[in-house]
Amino acid sequence: MPVSPQLVLPPAGSAIWRRDFLFGAATAAYQIEGATEVDGRLPSIWDSFGAVPGNIANGDTGAVACDHYHRYADDVALLAGLGFSAYRFSIAWPRVIDENGRLNPKGVAFYQRLLDKLDERGIAPYATLCHWDLPQHLQDRGGWLNRDTSLRFADYADQISRALAGRVRGWMTLNEPWVSAYVGHAEGRHAPGLRSPRYAVEAMHHLLLGHGLAVPALRANDKAPVGLVANVNGVTAASDSAEDQLAARRAHANNNLWVLDALFKGQYPEELRQLWPDAIAPVRDGDMATISVPLDFVGINYYFRAVVASDGGHGYVVQQTPGVERTQMGWEVHPDSLRNLLVEFHQRYPEMPPVYITENGMASDDRVQDGRVHDEQRIRYLGRHFAAIDQAMQQGVDVRGYFVWSLLDNFEWAYGYDKRFGIVHVDYTTQQRTPKDSALALKSFFQQRAERA
Ligand code: FCB
Repeated sequence: MPVSPQLVLPPAGSAIWRRDFLFGAATAAYQIEGATEVDGRLPSIWDSFGAVPGNIANGDTGAVACDHYHRYADDVALLAGLGFSAYRFSIAWPRVIDENGRLNPKGVAFYQRLLDKLDERGIAPYATLCHWDLPQHLQDRGGWLNRDTSLRFADYADQISRALAGRVRGWMTLNEPWVSAYVGHAEGRHAPGLRSPRYAVEAMHHLLLGHGLAVPALRANDKAPVGLVANVNGVTAASDSAEDQLAARRAHANNNLWVLDALFKGQYPEELRQLWPDAIAPVRDGDMATISVPLDFVGINYYFRAVVASDGGHGYVVQQTPGVERTQMGWEVHPDSLRNLLVEFHQRYPEMPPVYITENGMASDDRVQDGRVHDEQRIRYLGRHFAAIDQAMQQGVDVRGYFVWSLLDNFEWAYGYDKRFGIVHVDYTTQQRTPKDSALALKSFFQQRAERA
């Protein structure tokens, strides 16, 4: 049997070797739970979006996914067996709140059972309140284009944090509001499938307002730290030309600063007006102060870099540079961008709280051979990103932990089940889980860490 390649790790003095640097794995409700019509769960915008032919590769849906709703105990045992000390999961809003805005006890009971199992195994739970699966009945009233959805979100946060008070180690309000707003409302590749930057700008404001209203509700009910999870990506100009440099600044503002400037400066970047002159955020008095409420931590999700050029107008286009390493998604592997972004944010935002890397990982076309999955590219990817985080910490960035995306292969949104991000392989016919070599390499790192402590 071939020996698993080892992770190339930062030197012994690095903070990632310290036991208080948290290592976790991440998942999201719609991507793994399945059981979409069980115990009173209501439809989400992803059920509706997936029902439209052509929206999702192969016509895949999250109806079964990894059947985690029924297999959660085994999945927690797997997580513990690999030596993780934390788990980031999301709570399905349409599972726990009914159409009248009241708690659905059966849905809540699922998360109580999950938390019991995590507790038994000593794994610290980090719960995301909305990982994109907005209840469809709220979408029917305008979804994130309707300011009332922000209030509904805060009310959901209030009720679920009362029900689960004392049980989680951290609350994360929204996952990647940029993707909900932009990919869902301007590009239309995600639910709800709208296609105008004007919608994206409105949706973003209501998403962030919902976050800002949820934070005090969470704090009133529970002592656990509160944060938001933002996705960021590297942006590099395709050339030194003034046009491409300007395009890159605008792309950076769109991809990275839109959410973070709002949270930590209480304003939206000026470049967005230049990109979309007709799109006006529906800001009312006091909104930006609500949105920029101080946080206990910020979650950063990082996967890739984009090289951008001017589109000849006031926008930009992403170029496919040849000769670089890419993943199954076609995403460029570029750990230096993670370091550079962390250092830039640290300098740009004096108000920025401690950082957790809440997602990082890659998809590959993994197959089981003789009970093993040789995912060497992922092992290299993880080691190189650990090094980038270590470098950022050496430059003063306060990074407290890292969650690999993802524990399991799962429903990768519009790509369906073809893109495998797990450190554990899932056979969707049998639901058999097989830890990949990357999972074994992480396990061995966690063991070494425990021995050194
Ligand atoms: C992020 C999402 C996560 C997963 C990864 C690959 O944008 O938060 O659910 O799809 O990308």
